[in-house]
Amino acid sequence: MPEITPRGLTGLAFGGDYNPEQWPEAVWEEDVRLMREAGVTLVSVGIFSWALLEPAPGAHDFGWLDRSLDLLHDAGIRVDLGTPTVVPPAWFYRAHPDALPVTAEGVRLAFGSRGAICHSNPAYRAAAADITTRLAERYGDHPALAMWHVHNEYGVPVSACYCDTCAAHFRRWLERTYGGVDAVNEAWGTAFWGQRYASLDEIDPPRATPTVGNPAQALDYRRFADATMRENFTAERDILHRLSPGVPVTTNFMTALSQCDSVDYWAWGREVDLVTNDHYLITDGRRTHVNLAMAADLTRSVAGGAPWLLLEHSTSGVNWQPRNPAKAPGQMARNSLAHVARGSDGAMFFQWRQSRRGAEKFHSAMLPHGGTETRVFREVTELGAAVQSLASVRGTRTEADAAVLWDWQSWWAQNLDWRPSQDHDARERADAFYEALYDHHLTVDFARPEGDLSRYPLVVVPALYLMTEAAGDSLRRYAEGGGTLVVSYFSGIVDEHDAVHEGPYPGALRDVLGLTVEEFSPLLEGERVRLTGPGGAELQADVWTEFVVPRGAETVWTYADGPAAGRPAVTRHRLGEGTAWYVSTRLGTDGLATVLARAAEDAGISPRDDLPHDVEVVRRSGDSGRFLFAINHSGADAKVPLETPGTELLTGERAAGRLAVPAGAVRVVRLDG
Ligand code: GAL
Repeated sequence: MPEITPRGLTGLAFGGDYNPEQWPEAVWEEDVRLMREAGVTLVSVGIFSWALLEPAPGAHDFGWLDRSLDLLHDAGIRVDLGTPTVVPPAWFYRAHPDALPVTAEGVRLAFGSRGAICHSNPAYRAAAADITTRLAERYGDHPALAMWHVHNEYGVPVSACYCDTCAAHFRRWLERTYGGVDAVNEAWGTAFWGQRYASLDEIDPPRATPTVGNPAQALDYRRFADATMRENFTAERDILHRLSPGVPVTTNFMTALSQCDSVDYWAWGREVDLVTNDHYLITDGRRTHVNLAMAADLTRSVAGGAPWLLLEHSTSGVNWQPRNPAKAPGQMARNSLAHVARGSDGAMFFQWRQSRRGAEKFHSAMLPHGGTETRVFREVTELGAAVQSLASVRGTRTEADAAVLWDWQSWWAQNLDWRPSQDHDARERADAFYEALYDHHLTVDFARPEGDLSRYPLVVVPALYLMTEAAGDSLRRYAEGGGTLVVSYFSGIVDEHDAVHEGPYPGALRDVLGLTVEEFSPLLEGERVRLTGPGGAELQADVWTEFVVPRGAETVWTYADGPAAGRPAVTRHRLGEGTAWYVSTRLGTDGLATVLARAAEDAGISPRDDLPHDVEVVRRSGDSGRFLFAINHSGADAKVPLETPGTELLTGERAAGRLAVPAGAVRVVRLDG
């Protein structure tokens, strides 16, 4: 992917969503003055302002936006200009009530929040194209314009609509994808439960049914819904490219949030000029900085390894979780700079000034209700200066040690109903493997199952239930060529239509793993099993066991008890120049770390277990140099060995030998040479 950056920015981006329309114009001067004080260089404007830009059908009011953009430009602040197509005005829905989306249960959602859109609706499509055209014509060469921000977070809050317009659009999609009803019947296995269709006209969206519906239909509907949103994105993007040439177009992703699993970002990454991401800490008791690192690594991977931009995160608490703790002192900077370490060319927030009204008034912002005499504003200002001192990092790429396979479509398939155990959660496995790699201080790229993996010594496959034969072949070639694979249970089971691969499990991976699985035997709630292994080392597991039959693989850990007692639990298969490990049960992070340490030996990589726990060390490199980021998430001061001396950019001090990273602090060293 070409590296395309916001126009006119020389350093890293720093700023946030800016909603001047929520404030009297008298406040705008103060906004701009304080933005400069805080080191803001880029703001996202106009994302939700369609009703203000077009107060009545065909009647436009661009005056306020003209004045706001000019004010920002005069202050040297660049603009990421939104197309406001995520919230059409109320008058639009009065004229086109069928543009409101319908749920699978047949409920038409109402206007009055945001994102109430049927993406198949022709009136919506025409109106979105019209407002986008008018904005592009008016602002396409505005001197403040750095980039375009289309819509907002496609896929949330509505991931799919089930109305009649969508039904017709779905049938056209099926026609294009399959060529006719026979191929659909075959792919969906409609012989089961007498679901056979005589014509595409008989097919509807997977609306609420008495019991479980056809899984392949449900899976295809997710693909259709995703493709339909992408049609609308590319339509707007193409207008912007035509009328505002040379200005990058993005839409903000939410790569790793399980709340936004409805978008196949591998496909979207190819459509945007610049990948941007929103990330919020989910306070569910787990280590939030690990989830953050994973989101950032996934975003970079969607960008093909190129720099990307963190377009939203929060300065402190959010307001949409059951409990919304404030960030601890220093946590915001650690969060922001961890994204930068993992490839973001900046750190942006939702939002600049905390709203007084509306649904998000208790969401933190850069300028809180309390004003400038607040901890948050002081920390924002300090962070603005820190970000400025990292300008030379811009454009460099994060170095990765290993890859984790990731596939949204497999995730969709895995989450359909009636699986061997409701306790198995594919996302949980991805998180757990990621956390084990993180704790070994290995930096991870995410990779597509069918992509070229040859540059990675170690590839981890957390729970890739849906895997095409081509993906299985690619993994076999990877291992035979000298790679080391680690595969978890319930991987390689079905093809792209959610049909079980022919023959014993795991169909797509039998050869590479050197085994078959005769039967799954998930555990009951709370049940645990023990595994015994090399030198008597014991591991604990839960949720899943199965009856593995080695066919070339050696057994490394064996079930000591439970339904699979005496059978292989963790195996290792040598093939060609490489090795494939298989983990047939749910190990905790410690157990996974133990297995991964063995696999890392096969891969010839050394986990950096000399580095302190919860001290994140990541490197970026490129034409402007090599940078070591050390982020201390722990409560203890730490030392990080430096391979060469260098200059610490946040303090300007020289650094050599063992770099001191105080508890909670961040250090960024530009390494010499
Ligand atoms: C994002 C969204 C923003 C704001 C933010 C609050 O998902 O794009 O507009 O709502 O969440 O956390």
